[in-house]
Amino acid sequence: MYDFDKLIERSGTNAYKLDLRQRYFGTDDVIPLWVADMDFAAPEAVQQAIQERAKHEIYGYTIRKEEFTGAIVDWCQYKHNWGIKNDWIEYSPGVVPALVFSVLAFSEIGDGVIINTPVYPPFYSVVADNKRKIIANGLVNVDGKYEIDFELLEQQASLSDTKIFILCSPHNPVGRVWTKEELMRVHEICSKNNVLVLADEIHADLTLFGNEHTPFASLNDEAAMNCISFMAPSKTCNIAGFSTSYVVTANPKLLKAYRDMQNRLQLHMGHLFSGVALCSAYNHGRDWLEALKAYLERNILFVEDFLKEKMPEVSFYRPEATYLIWMNFKAWNKSQKEIKDFLVKEAKVGLNDGVSFGKDGEGFMRMNIASPRCVLEQALNQMYEARK
Ligand SMILES: Cc1ncc(COP(=O)(O)O)c(C=O)c1O
Repeated sequence: MYDFDKLIERSGTNAYKLDLRQRYFGTDDVIPLWVADMDFAAPEAVQQAIQERAKHEIYGYTIRKEEFTGAIVDWCQYKHNWGIKNDWIEYSPGVVPALVFSVLAFSEIGDGVIINTPVYPPFYSVVADNKRKIIANGLVNVDGKYEIDFELLEQQASLSDTKIFILCSPHNPVGRVWTKEELMRVHEICSKNNVLVLADEIHADLTLFGNEHTPFASLNDEAAMNCISFMAPSKTCNIAGFSTSYVVTANPKLLKAYRDMQNRLQLHMGHLFSGVALCSAYNHGRDWLEALKAYLERNILFVEDFLKEKMPEVSFYRPEATYLIWMNFKAWNKSQKEIKDFLVKEAKVGLNDGVSFGKDGEGFMRMNIASPRCVLEQALNQMYEARK
């Protein structure tokens, strides 16, 4: 019914994933398995809704009505069994911008912000570019599975100038879906120390292999009052180009302060297609998403089997969510530059540099497996042939 095997030509669409290869890899001649979007068509219902609206010849200032928040309320209930209210929600023009507004609203210059490293690179810039202090809580790699160092978190949260913890849940790039117990410990530590939790849950809908996402704010009332959640249909339905996301908080003070900052920066308007994209994705994307997740799981197993058979020294912990694989090349005993040079120049495969996620990403590369399987097969074969 849904054809994720279909090869769709993206050249000529100014796709970041293709057109920035020269800048990132120094060549266009790599199979692009990096930037976190998918090489799959968006759900049919989204395509139709966008095309339908585009047919109208006036593209003036456009607002989002109750159907926008209503679609979000329904989705959070359906997908995460999380009961939220319309007036807990505010539109945001992207999760990263929303994190910036929140850092500006809820901390002062010089304050500390905790992040779990290695992590999605903008987590660093969101903090450092706004002159806050990065407090790196390095995840602990236990046989490939990453865990939070709660003892360190406790110490870091108790510092008087620590104001915020930006939680990545599920975590990019290590693929963990934090358990309720883990989240509860985060909550207890942060609440006790008055550290506000900004829960980036953009990957929440992409849990795999039976893992279930727990919205941080759903843990209990106290957690809900000490948290802003950041979500979007962008990863879920491959519509990141619409720069459409939203924040949720049950705490009216937090919501007001967030809104005030977004308004102050004049970024509350958004664009014409934001409501159309989100509503069509959430109202009609359920079956598509289930089929997508099944395809992603098979892709992950395919990569796993391939590596086991042909390159067993390259390993990864099977991601519990996301379409991103955190590949460990340490057994090659090569420097990061040598690993990158090999992949780009010899294998001609474009993966994200592990070190761009933090220095604890040394020896790792991130592979995006959200492509038709034949593309992955070709990329893996190129790695294997170059390595022989
Ligand atoms: C954890 C995380 N947060 C945010 C984003 C990007 O969000 P947006 O495009 O809405 O700014 C990504 C994209 O890969 C991500 O992995």
